[in-house]
Amino acid sequence: MDVQKFVENAIKEIREKVKDGKAIIALSGGVDSSVCTVLAYKAIGDRLIPVFVDTGLMREGEPERIKEIFGNMGLVFIDAKDEFFKALKGVTDPEEKRKVIGELFVRIFERVAEEHNAEYLIQGTIYPDIIESQGGIKSHHNVGGFPTKYKFKDVIEPLRELYKDEVREVARYLGLPEEISERMPFPGPGLAVRIVGEVTPEKVEIVRKANKIVEEELADYEKWQCFAALIGRATGVKGDVRVWGYIISVRAVESRDGMTADPIRIDYEKLRRIALRITGEIDKVSRVVYDVTPKPPATIEYE
Ligand code: XMP
Repeated sequence: MDVQKFVENAIKEIREKVKDGKAIIALSGGVDSSVCTVLAYKAIGDRLIPVFVDTGLMREGEPERIKEIFGNMGLVFIDAKDEFFKALKGVTDPEEKRKVIGELFVRIFERVAEEHNAEYLIQGTIYPDIIESQGGIKSHHNVGGFPTKYKFKDVIEPLRELYKDEVREVARYLGLPEEISERMPFPGPGLAVRIVGEVTPEKVEIVRKANKIVEEELADYEKWQCFAALIGRATGVKGDVRVWGYIISVRAVESRDGMTADPIRIDYEKLRRIALRITGEIDKVSRVVYDVTPKPPATIEYE
C-alpha cells in the first residue's frame, strides 16, 4: 500500500462527499476511528464533529483518556451509560445484543447530528468488518448491526478497504501517538460482547476489573489482543464460605487480521498469578480459566 496516496485519496473522498456540509464522526479512541478522525479533520476542518459515546461498556479509564487526547478537537462527549444498560436489559441473544447496541449508537449519532446540522456520518469500518458481516459471521455494530434506515444523507467509510496492519501504518504516517497506533483492537460493542448472556452494570464492573489485570499481566507478551470475559457462574469457596461466583475466561491470541487467531503460549506461573490476582482482587469471581481454542472454530470475542 502506498500510504501517502491512500491518505490523499481518503481526504479527497471526504471533501467531495461532504462538500460544504458538516459531518459527525463516531470516535471510540481505537486506531480505526482515530485515523478516520484525523483524515476527516484534515479534509473538512472544524466542519467535523467528533462524537464519543460513553456506553458504560468501555475499558477502565478509557472515556477519560479520550477526553484528554481529543478534547481540543471540539469533541462532543455523550454520557449514554443509562440508555445502554436500559436497552440491554433482558437481552441474551448475541446477535440481538449487537443489533440493540448498533441501533442505539446510530440514534444517538442522529440526535447529535441534528443538533449540529450535520448530514454525514463518518465511520472507521475496516475491510474485515465488512467481510465478516457479509459472510453472516457476525454483526459488527458499525456494519451488520447498523440499521438499514437512518437519517444521514450518506455514511462515509474511508478505511473500508484496509486491514488492521495497514490502518496502523496510516496512523504512524499521520503521527498519531503510539498509544493509539499500536492499540489493541477493542470491539465496537465493547465489554458487552465479553459477557456471555445478559449485560448488567455489576457484570460489566467485574469484567472491566478483570480485563485490567489481564492487560497489566500480559503487557510484555507479543499478541494481537488479550482480555478477560465473563462466561458464566460456578461454585467456589471464599473465606471458608461456599459461593456461587462468576467464571472469568482469559483470552490472549496472536493474529494478522483478526480473521483467524491462535492462543499465545503463556507460562504456567503467569497463568496462576493471573488467576490468583483476579479471584483475590475481585470479590465475586471464584474461577478463572485460560481459553486455548483457536479461531476457527472459536471466535476471538465471546458474542
Ligand atoms: P471475532 O470475535 O469475530 O473478532 O473473532 C475478530 C476481531 O474483530 C474485533 N471485533 C469487532 N470490532 N466492531 C469492531 O470494531 C465489532 O462489532 C467487533 N466485534 C469483534 C475483535 O475484537 C477481534 O479483534
